[in-house]
Amino acid sequence: MASHGLISFFFSSLFLHLLPPITNAFTLEIINNCPYRAYTVWAAALPGGGRQLNPSQNWTFSIASNADNCRVWGRTNCEFKDGGVGRCETGDCGGRLECSTSGKAPYTGAGFTLNQTDGMDYYHLSLTKGFNVPMSLSPENLSSKCKALQCSADIIGQCPAPLKAPGGCNDPCTVFRNEECCTTAASCSKTPYNEFFKHLCPQAWSYPKDNSTITCPAGTKFRVTFCPI
Ligand SMILES: *[C@@H]1O[C@H](CO)[C@@H](O)[C@H](O)[C@H]1NC(C)=O
Ligand SMILES: *[C@@H]1O[C@H](CO)[C@@H](O)[C@H](O)[C@H]1NC(C)=O
Ligand SMILES: *[C@@H]1O[C@H](CO)[C@@H](O)[C@H](O)[C@H]1NC(C)=O
Ligand SMILES: *[C@@H]1O[C@H](CO)[C@@H](O)[C@H](O)[C@H]1NC(C)=O
Repeated sequence: MASHGLISFFFSSLFLHLLPPITNAFTLEIINNCPYRAYTVWAAALPGGGRQLNPSQNWTFSIASNADNCRVWGRTNCEFKDGGVGRCETGDCGGRLECSTSGKAPYTGAGFTLNQTDGMDYYHLSLTKGFNVPMSLSPENLSSKCKALQCSADIIGQCPAPLKAPGGCNDPCTVFRNEECCTTAASCSKTPYNEFFKHLCPQAWSYPKDNSTITCPAGTKFRVTFCPI
């Protein structure tokens, strides 16, 4: 019996090693560099789900490399019961630890459109849902076109009074839902509130028409860091 067990173990190990690597996968490494216990961040990804990241912990996973619209953000001050149901003060996705729907503002976001017809991955940081946690987005191999983006200004500390929210700073659309809102490109013009975000984090999108993108060759591995400095 013992030798039978040993043989099964040997063969299952062998087969695990022989499994083909996931091909055409996009790999993301999400790291929580936030220094204090108060800055536990509950990372969220669509597709991907979600995970609690204590300071210095990371979450590395792969998704299909042709995902059209991959989003990553952080959630703060969460409480989840067994079964992964609860709530977060910022970025909450329907009260689930594992997100399958968008988050609730305010949150700092990163977005990816993978492997487009030009063979490139398009990516950006976004403040169009406000700001909760400082964030950077860095490709593994940097070049002049494929570069790191960062938003780590004190947006919460300087947040205009009408945009202040528990744990973050709302985008004007979430608060006003009117011409400040910029929901469609056609009606979109910059407002002083958009300028507030743009001034503090010029590398991040701050309104819908603000859609400049930068690209890296498809297959590039990216690292998202909460509290990069
Ligand atoms: C990008 O898409 C092309 C065409 O579908 C595919 O051949 C290629 O392997 C993909 N690249 C990556 C890195 O997934
Ligand atoms: C990510 O976490 C794993 C497991 O805890 C650890 O071995 C690895 O060094 C970490 N990577 C980074 C970049 O911190
Ligand atoms: C940016 O938005 C403009 C206006 O809606 C649109 O024409 C353009 O294609 C968009 N660019 C990207 C890269 O999405
Ligand atoms: C990034 O650089 C590493 C090490 O030089 C290399 O193995 C890898 O293929 C590069 N990745 C891309 C997407 O160019």
